[in-house]
Amino acid sequence: MRSTAVFATLLAAVTAALAAPSPATISKRQGPSFYIVVCTEPDIAAGTCEPFGGLGEGVCTPFPASFNDNISSLASTFDGEACTVYVNDGCTGDSLVVEHLQTYNTLPANLDNALSSFKCSAV
Ligand SMILES: *[C@@H]1O[C@H](CO)[C@@H](O)[C@H](O)[C@H]1NC(C)=O
Repeated sequence: MRSTAVFATLLAAVTAALAAPSPATISKRQGPSFYIVVCTEPDIAAGTCEPFGGLGEGVCTPFPASFNDNISSLASTFDGEACTVYVNDGCTGDSLVVEHLQTYNTLPANLDNALSSFKCSAV
C-alpha cells in the first residue's frame, strides 16, 4: 500500500515534468517554419516547389543552389509575415515585397529566374 502511494506520487511528478510546453512557448522558440513557397515554373504548383522559412526576423536567407536564379512563381504562406525577395545574394539588388498570403503566379521580367535571397519580418 505504501509503496503504491509513493509510486503514484512519483508518477505524478514525472508526468508533470514531462508535460509538453505550451504551444505559445514552442512557436516563440521555433518561429513559424514556412514563410514563402517558391517554384521553378510559373503558377506555383508547376515545376519544383519548396517552402522556405526565414532564419529570423529580417535575417537574409539565400535560396539554395537548386532555386538560385531558378524561381518563376512564389507565395507567402504565413499570415502576419511579409517577405522581400532579391535578385542578389545578401538581399541586395532589385527586389519585390511579398505581402502575407500573397501569391505571384509570374514574376516581373527583372526578377524571373533571377532571385537569390530573401528576408521576412512581421507585419
Ligand atoms: C531549376 O529547377 C529545375 C526543376 O527542379 C531543375 O531541374 C534544374 O536543374 C534547376 N536549374 C538549376 C540551374 O539549378
